[in-house]
Amino acid sequence: MDRIAITGGFRLEGELPISGAKNAALPLMCASLLTGETLKLSNIPHLADIKTLKLLLEGHGVKTETVNEGSMFGQGQTINFTTKTITSTTAPYDIVRKMRASILVLGPLLARVGEATVSLPGGCAIGNRPIDLHLKGFEEMGATIELEEGYVRAVAPGGRLKGGTVLFPTVSVGATENILMAATLAAGTTIIENAAREPEITDLANCLNAMGAKISGIGSRTITVEGVDKLHGTEYSVMPDRIEAGSYAVAAAMTRGELELKGENLLDAMRGSVGVLKQAGLEFTETGGGVMVKLGRDKIRGINVTTQPYPGFPTDMQAQVMAMMTLCDGASVINETIFENRFMHVPELTRMGADITVHGSTATVRGVDHLLGAPVMATDLRASMSLILAGLVADRQTFVNRVYHLDRGYERLVEKLSAVGAKIVRDANLGI
Ligand code: UD1
Repeated sequence: MDRIAITGGFRLEGELPISGAKNAALPLMCASLLTGETLKLSNIPHLADIKTLKLLLEGHGVKTETVNEGSMFGQGQTINFTTKTITSTTAPYDIVRKMRASILVLGPLLARVGEATVSLPGGCAIGNRPIDLHLKGFEEMGATIELEEGYVRAVAPGGRLKGGTVLFPTVSVGATENILMAATLAAGTTIIENAAREPEITDLANCLNAMGAKISGIGSRTITVEGVDKLHGTEYSVMPDRIEAGSYAVAAAMTRGELELKGENLLDAMRGSVGVLKQAGLEFTETGGGVMVKLGRDKIRGINVTTQPYPGFPTDMQAQVMAMMTLCDGASVINETIFENRFMHVPELTRMGADITVHGSTATVRGVDHLLGAPVMATDLRASMSLILAGLVADRQTFVNRVYHLDRGYERLVEKLSAVGAKIVRDANLGI
């Protein structure tokens, strides 16, 4: 397996392009199942998860055509997705187990052809992530749900879902997206209560409306969807990745550098993170095509932070902020409320000299003077990024193993960081 080797201690400076958001691109790609016409998506990042979903969609009958490969310092790739007919309604275990977001084909398939059979995603490294909210939502819309041999089979009686009121007891990004897509083609009006409000959901809803859907209340807790008979094709550009941007903002601060993160409306998309990062001492200045970020004080300030659904502080930034807090002035308390078991980076950061204690869902981080390079590995995407960030400032060399986690969510990580001054290389077949 590959590994990433980082020599710490180099200040990052320059322009860093932010890619299209993985978590927006995935549901947008699934939306292509809702129409027989072509959905042309641009600014899609080059990531392993995108390849996995493309493969899954092709299995359902989606024809994909890469119009433009994109470039590192420009837009991402542009792909046409055309689903004249759904050729299979089964999402197999072999693909779904690789990527939980595969569950997002369930709503569109059910809406388009009245049935779908999708493998249960199973457990994952950051905890037991059930799909009960998705399934209850489809039941509210008239679907019957059966579980058999590790698969969930959903059927819409008469071939069409009907509108209903879906009240989520807890906020779920994926369940909101799944029900939203399904509701666009349902008979009648669907009201989604306690909907997730993440910017990626707004991106999806805007694209669906451009395809002819009738969605209102976008970005609020209550989304109303008036079902239509048909959706049509459109062209849509994926929003920039606010988590990638936040991760590189942390990199700028930790290395005492200054980065211009390039992307449209970035500061707005990063709303959930910016307040917390400012408390820690980061300064953000909007520029023409992005945002300039640096640490505006001598040391990183210790802060108390709790993960929350948007517009709160995102769980997907928790590990990166913890890496930053290992060097804070004083101490920091980090409370994880979204996922259990999302502190898998703690033992690895501790091996690099961090002082962190965990009690349940709360981590107390006492700032240390410096971190020490070490061979490390993480079990999920954001945890892996926290180790890269620690490596950027650690004494001597850090070797990050299990690079495939990073390949899922950070486009051209090594190239991007090298271009702004990091000493970072990817070694093929030297990892564990
Ligand atoms: C999405 C993001 C992920 C992010 C997460 C929270 C994508 C592809 N992934 O994941 O990066 O960390 O939002 O912001 O967009 N839950 C249930 N039952 C369900 C669904 C969820 O109990 O049916 C729970 C989960 O276990 C978790 C919480 O709800 O505790 C939030 O999960 P959810 O918002 O659904 O996360 P994902 O959509 O999987």
